[in-house]
Amino acid sequence: MDSQHEGTAPASPPPTSRSDTTLRVNGKPHTLTVDHRRVLLDLLREDLGLAGAKKGCDHGQCGACTVLVDGRRVNSCLLFAVALDGCEITTVEGLAGDGEELHPMQRAFLDRDAFQCGYCTPGQICSAVGVLAEAAAGHPSHVTDPQAPSGEPVPLGREEIRERLSGNICRCGAYPRIADAVEDVI
Ligand code: FES
Ligand code: FES
Repeated sequence: MDSQHEGTAPASPPPTSRSDTTLRVNGKPHTLTVDHRRVLLDLLREDLGLAGAKKGCDHGQCGACTVLVDGRRVNSCLLFAVALDGCEITTVEGLAGDGEELHPMQRAFLDRDAFQCGYCTPGQICSAVGVLAEAAAGHPSHVTDPQAPSGEPVPLGREEIRERLSGNICRCGAYPRIADAVEDVI
């Protein structure tokens, strides 16, 4: 032992911090006392029982956990839930609204048979919904023509779709049909 620290008591771990946090999830408010270390994905799956978003890598690399926060797609495994107080969260379970009819993206994935095991599918669908909004708002991607007018909607061709969904990994390789499904909704 370092002589400088001899005789001192071992440092106790810092107390866990928790805060009341209100999230609006699929249109319903939920107030929970949230451990500051809890990520949105675990909160959705374990605290709210919404198991649509999947844990693939838990490192922001696979996209299986994709949900929408205030309409923008996010990797929910990377976001601390406490930082989202007051935000609107939409998961794959909430895309269809009242549930009477599937969201057009869900319908297109079914019609195109755009999955095999389905593990990546909720993330793919939420991501694709986010892509439509991003392109409509004029957000460029890596393959968008740099000469395109700024702020104008970006046309979603096949290359744009593939690029924008490149953060969503499919172990089954259903990529061609996923792109077909997204094209159907454009
Ligand atoms: S589980 Fe979040 S990106 Fe893989
Ligand atoms: S359908 Fe199996 S991982 Fe994509």
